[in-house]
Amino acid sequence: MDTNKLKREAAERAVDGLRDGMAVGLGTGSTAYFVVESVGRRLREGSLRNIVGIPTSERTAEQARQVGIPLTTFEAHPALDVTVDGADEVSPDLTLVKGLGGALLREKIVAGASGRLIIVVDESKLVKKLGTKAPLPVEVVPFGWEVLPGKIRKLGADPVLRKTADGKPFLTDGHHFILDCRWPEGIGRPDAMELELKRIVGVVETGIFVGMATEVIVAGAGGVRTMKRS
Ligand code: A5P
Repeated sequence: MDTNKLKREAAERAVDGLRDGMAVGLGTGSTAYFVVESVGRRLREGSLRNIVGIPTSERTAEQARQVGIPLTTFEAHPALDVTVDGADEVSPDLTLVKGLGGALLREKIVAGASGRLIIVVDESKLVKKLGTKAPLPVEVVPFGWEVLPGKIRKLGADPVLRKTADGKPFLTDGHHFILDCRWPEGIGRPDAMELELKRIVGVVETGIFVGMATEVIVAGAGGVRTMKRS
């Protein structure tokens, strides 16, 4: 199965649910790319009108400008109608791991300001237990970052500093580093782990999204379906 085709199908289904005049959080990543592309196309065609967006990364901001989505600010729109974004892992209760694309902090801020968070994924992202496929990205302040792996190891994880192809630390849009953390058996209690990690001074944000996704649109070989938070 062509993964890009699935990502596009999930994205189109999510954009079908947008309405004229909405303020929309625009996600980051290869699936959210198709969302931004589709919103831009529908605005140009006139099948969708008066949409404004807040991008979750500089990359998405650039794409939104290219496809003609007007961007807004939190000053003008402190409450967004909806955000559409991708995810790295989705558990059965719609808890997520996000941030392999490095945009987790802005993604969480934008999602937190949105009435609904619609996640678009292909079915490979569905897991029984978080942390079993993808590492958990943890965004940290560069100053003193060397102290943090030891503290995170005490929580059972194996943290690795994310680097770019040329061996330099990967820098987020907020100029932070990312520690990609793997637990040998996955993350047992994501809600508790989220709190434990955020108690460590120097941790800015984690890629665990608890109780934020309202719907997950999943595209797979059998078609597109929607999981809703119960
Ligand atoms: C970006 O930081 C991430 O949270 C993405 O939303 C996530 O990694 C999903 O990306 P893909 O759609 O490219 O898999």
